[in-house]
Amino acid sequence: MDSAALQSAESHYFTNNPPPKDLKVNITLAREFITRHADQGRRVVLVTSGGTIVPLETQMVRYIDNFSAGTRGATSAEYFLQNGYAVIFLHRQFSLLPYSRHYSHNTRSFLDFMKEGDGRVVVDEQHQEEMMYVLRQYMEAKRNNTLLILSFVTITEYLWDLREVAKLMRPLGPKAIFYLAAAVSDFFVPQDRMVEHKIQSSEEFAQNAEDSGDTSGKLPAARTEGRSLIIDLEPVPKFLKSLVDGWAPEGMIVSFKLETDPSLLVKKATHSLKNYQHHLVIGNLLLTRKWEVVFVSSIDGEKWIRVPSNRRTKSFSGVESLVGAADPTGKKDAGEEPAI
Ligand code: PMT
Repeated sequence: MDSAALQSAESHYFTNNPPPKDLKVNITLAREFITRHADQGRRVVLVTSGGTIVPLETQMVRYIDNFSAGTRGATSAEYFLQNGYAVIFLHRQFSLLPYSRHYSHNTRSFLDFMKEGDGRVVVDEQHQEEMMYVLRQYMEAKRNNTLLILSFVTITEYLWDLREVAKLMRPLGPKAIFYLAAAVSDFFVPQDRMVEHKIQSSEEFAQNAEDSGDTSGKLPAARTEGRSLIIDLEPVPKFLKSLVDGWAPEGMIVSFKLETDPSLLVKKATHSLKNYQHHLVIGNLLLTRKWEVVFVSSIDGEKWIRVPSNRRTKSFSGVESLVGAADPTGKKDAGEEPAI
């Protein structure tokens, strides 16, 4: 797609898919955060995390989700903070958060880390040291105000937030980093083809165009025909190109590529790098993403980073991801611990 076509796709998308209600608040928070840290000479990174959803109805009952628990994003955010960055953490609502991730989305409840002592609730002995380590880092981020948490749910909310925050980061030039770990929907239902009410399972109760308030004459993108549900999605414009060329042309941009077929991963990561001309693509496979990733860049070519098999253990917080494989107490050998 040439740049005129991309600009037109961008303008069409943002004209026809209205901004989220909290966009203004998010912009105000992000502007203040970015200005403050830029004044203090800190680098700012936008970490995106979790999956976007595609609603099928305006009054949404059903939606299509994208796989991601938010482990990669939340873990990476901790490492950026540890290394002195200010982090804007744009995540899917209720997906994993930096620091609290150690005690949530687990087979154990956070209450399992507690006990009663002298009529008070305390952390049990076994978890004292680890929790103290995590708590201290969390408190430091709070004290320094280096973590701003914003959230999205739908693809449209994500794209509005990404675009506006990226534009705010533009004046930072190369001091702005974009670390795009979110799993972004490739297909969606445009607002003008979305039915208002819950899709019915039989045609007898199905909405027709007039009932749904639609006058464009377009078929709803999700509808019942006979007893079948037909979903006819449209492609989401590839906004990575807009980010690289227009929203933050001087920023350092790292995207992720998730595949399931090993024979495609490096090919597609390389293709993405060539297509978008950004700095780094980190490729991962669904089944091995916690142990290995491949970095594809124009400087280093293809470089694999693997967690040694003897370190693929469950930590106190459950199965760890690659960038989160460090022992939080720092007692074990950091050895091949990859830096993000
Ligand atoms: O959260 P976890 O459970 O730990 O899982 C982490 C992860 C596997 C989700 C993560 O490591 C990962 O791979 N994230 C990216 C998955 C993805 O959406 O890939 P993609 O091929 O759809 O997109 C590739 C890149 O293009 C993304 O960085 C995205 O920001 C960008 N994109 C995608 C679609 C679109 N319309 N415009 C875009 O710019």
